[in-house]
Amino acid sequence: MALQPKNVGILAMEVYFPPTCIQQEVLEAHDGASKGKYTIGLGQDCMAFCTDVEDVISMSLTAVSSLLEKYGVDPKQIGRLEVGSETVLDKSKSIKTFLMPIFEKCGNTDIEGVDSTNACYGGTAALFNCVNWVESSSWDGRYGLVVCTDSAVYAEGPARPTGGAAAIAMLIGPNAPISFESKLRASHMAHAYDFYKPDLASEYPVVDGKLSQTCYLMALDSCYKSLCDKYEKLQGKQFSVVDVDYFVFHSPYNKLVQKSFARLLFNDFLRSASSIGESAKEKLAPFSSLTSDESYQSRDLEKASQQVAKPFYDAKVQPSTLVPKQVGNMYTASIYAAFASLIHNKHSTLAGQRVMLFSYGSGLSSSMFSVRLNEGQHPFNLSNIASVMNIAEKLKSRQEFPPEKFVETMKVMEHRYGGKDFVTSKDCSLLAPGTYYLTEVDSKYRRFYSKKANENGTLANGH
Ligand code: ACO
Repeated sequence: MALQPKNVGILAMEVYFPPTCIQQEVLEAHDGASKGKYTIGLGQDCMAFCTDVEDVISMSLTAVSSLLEKYGVDPKQIGRLEVGSETVLDKSKSIKTFLMPIFEKCGNTDIEGVDSTNACYGGTAALFNCVNWVESSSWDGRYGLVVCTDSAVYAEGPARPTGGAAAIAMLIGPNAPISFESKLRASHMAHAYDFYKPDLASEYPVVDGKLSQTCYLMALDSCYKSLCDKYEKLQGKQFSVVDVDYFVFHSPYNKLVQKSFARLLFNDFLRSASSIGESAKEKLAPFSSLTSDESYQSRDLEKASQQVAKPFYDAKVQPSTLVPKQVGNMYTASIYAAFASLIHNKHSTLAGQRVMLFSYGSGLSSSMFSVRLNEGQHPFNLSNIASVMNIAEKLKSRQEFPPEKFVETMKVMEHRYGGKDFVTSKDCSLLAPGTYYLTEVDSKYRRFYSKKANENGTLANGH
């Protein structure tokens, strides 16, 4: 019988994104957008995308096998595996089942969990499920494993530069270096048609861009208000942004993250919180009587609150923006790629710090939740997580595509989506050793994957 687990949370992480990418500056010029629209207007540097040999399944196979290998975790030690994704390759068979061969090979089929879907929120649902399982009476003493995997692609037009692709795997258990403050959690769930995928023949969403921005900010406000109320009830004192060392946001594009953080300061101003000094109060005072609807439309408020937020943003948010700016929106993986960026940038000084995360999935579902960091114990410690993820090296060794080749790749992927009876190029020359890739979809829509040989020459079997 396992003992009551303490400090349940994330023990280990691995991040994978395709090595193929396009610079936003290049895409901007190709699309005929005004200079600076994608780089300054959206705040994005670069965007990753899958070519015909990669998809959400291959990326998650890579992330999971790499995590188990690099942290020395025996696949038999996994008791729950949950996947979050909004990229539909099969309307019935879960992505989780495609990962099972890794475990079946070791004789472990006793693994609970399937996939969770709601736009970019499914990964957070999967994470909560795993954390709750470890904290519950059903826990059998083994680890949980969460995988967030998505390929974010949009039809040609203004949304296309907000794509991206990645998979993130997270090992869940007790005595974690990233542990959940389970009472500091608030959600906002509602019905909205801001971004959705009703056309099952297409990978592209139907998106009302402006509405999705407002829905995101409304959900953020609602979660923050509830979280402040909960904290104040529990602790008997006021909560504000100064009680948090770092904020991590779901990042469709960086400009929205800047606006979101500024919005938290506006919330603090309305609640007369101590984070707002005299000069900030003066700057925000003209907006105190706006209705909330008016406040979402006010460009002047946006500008004033971003100005007030700037020094806090640089200290508390900027360290988590690296991968989202470089890879793009990774849907379910986006918030955890932002968190991975924070660990990459600050791992040696994070012990004892509180990090607040905001997860948003259109449609809509959202949660704000808090984690506490401690150094942990090898191999489950922050500096080892940073070195396993090896983010700088992964970013550096990417291949930049010219826009014509990017557009051509999108066309191939569009044509292949939902298709059967084809073999891929099987060209894995750009993939790092140990990466899984798609080789074939047969006449019965069955998908086949191989693994590129590891550096030491060992070749895992495809399946
Ligand atoms: N230099 C600098 N900035 C510029 C320039 C320029 N040359 N041209 C435009 N901009 C700015 C605009 O002022 C605007 O900034 P602002 O928001 O601060 O005003 C920004 O660039 C974007 O330009 P817009 O014309 O407002 O918007 P656009 O029509 O290009 O669409 C959008 C942007 C809505 C984000 C679109 O890309 C989209 O629909 N993306 C998908 C939806 C999405 O990601 N929603 C977020 C939440 S839901 C989710 O996560 C999927």
